Amino acid sequence: MAKARTRTVFFCQQCGGEQSRWLGRCPDCGTWNSLVEAQVERNPAPAALPALPKAEPQSLPTITADRFERITVEYDEFNRVLGGGIVPGSLVLIGGEPGVGKSTLLAQVSGALVQKIGKVLYISGEESVQQIKLRADRLGIREADLYLLAETSLDDALAAMESLQPRAVVVDSIQTMYLESLESAAGSVSQVRECAVRLQRWAKARHVPIFLVGHVTKEGAIAGPRVLEHIVDCVLYLEGERFQSYRLLRSTKNRFGSTHEIGVFEMQGDGLVEVLNPSAAFLAERSETATGSAVTVTMEGTRPILVEIQALTSPSAYGMARRTANGIDMNRLHLLTAVLTKRVGLDLGAQDIFVNVVGGLKIGEPAADLAIALAVASSFRDLALDHEMVYLGEVGLGGELRSTGQIERRLLEASKLGFSRALIPAAIKRDRINVEGMRLIAAADLASAIELFAD
Ligand SMILES: Nc1ncnc2c1ncn2[C@@H]1O[C@H](COP(=O)(O)OP(=O)(O)O)[C@@H](O)[C@H]1O
Ligand SMILES: [Mg+2]
Ligand SMILES: [Zn+2]
Repeated sequence: MAKARTRTVFFCQQCGGEQSRWLGRCPDCGTWNSLVEAQVERNPAPAALPALPKAEPQSLPTITADRFERITVEYDEFNRVLGGGIVPGSLVLIGGEPGVGKSTLLAQVSGALVQKIGKVLYISGEESVQQIKLRADRLGIREADLYLLAETSLDDALAAMESLQPRAVVVDSIQTMYLESLESAAGSVSQVRECAVRLQRWAKARHVPIFLVGHVTKEGAIAGPRVLEHIVDCVLYLEGERFQSYRLLRSTKNRFGSTHEIGVFEMQGDGLVEVLNPSAAFLAERSETATGSAVTVTMEGTRPILVEIQALTSPSAYGMARRTANGIDMNRLHLLTAVLTKRVGLDLGAQDIFVNVVGGLKIGEPAADLAIALAVASSFRDLALDHEMVYLGEVGLGGELRSTGQIERRLLEASKLGFSRALIPAAIKRDRINVEGMRLIAAADLASAIELFAD
């Protein structure tokens, strides 16, 4: 009896986990009702797929460490996020909301790649080649070895890749590609996964990097990039606030380097421009007189970045205190508000509180607690903080200040940007820190930190 060509599996739309049967709750991530049925191929068609060379056991000293010889492009911010450049044969997913600039970024990277390694094939299932050409004109990309292909059939795309033999490939977007052999629609979990698996096999066999664009979507019929995270080697997300021009490229998975690296760009009329000194950019429009503002240093991967935290408190209108957090976790704001109320004695119960991280960066680190809490206290009590000072430290539930990691690197960055004082937790051994031109002031808890500025 001939085996069926496809088999039925169930994928979680939240985490991409695969199950052999339907379950009400995903055993991998715990989400309810997230499994969807999908058909996957039993034996992927060999057509257009070059065979992988058979691996032989190798003696350790004979293996050269530069297995990841990397391709660097002229965008350092891009190289950095990938861990120092593009690894040949890797599959890189670039996710982000529609309109954030994924196609722009990859068009620019493609142009830069042509200069470095030759032919690049840009496959688009979203736009016509004329539309892509218009964008390329606007971005000033003219490379003759940049090839465009408007295609949604993955079999045809793979055939084109085989005949052109490009040195790098872009697929924009993975959700528009489909395999004829699968019955489900383009963008479904099974299509997206199978297409990615095929592309990965081609990338490995040909030793050519492939970039996949993936739209971030609300849960629903269309499979989001999360489903692909298991398959690809690197996952980068391009983020940005709708009304701000900064774009952050963040790595959340990297088989060839560290994660949580970020690259900073600014969207301009002629494309994405690198922001080589993000600290300076994020602080550029800082007002030096207003209350409710404190600067902290956040670590993004290995990179310290200075950001301004702004807070505003104002009496609630209807006895319903509102809390708004932009760029920090709402739970963190609730916690810090509770600590300010209970441990410091600030009566914030009837206050609306707004906190904003200037520039659109999202901070996930508790090291910013002190700056957030001081910004709130400063607005509420009309206290002027010290504008030549940076504020570092985690706030505990008892109001105590706890030390944060990599303090010296943070202080060095602050010093480079012209800050001369730092308020840090007393728990940090000050005599161990030596940053030229930086005076360290210590506080044991939030209340005594606030007292420093009260008159
Ligand atoms: N003619 C234009 N002039 C200036 N900026 C533009 C122009 N067209 C598009 N953009 C910018 O490019 C963004 C869309 O980028 P794109 O790379 O197409 O996004 P994505 O591929 O992520 O959907 C727009 O939000 C806008 O900021
Ligand atoms: Mg696009
Ligand atoms: Zn799951």
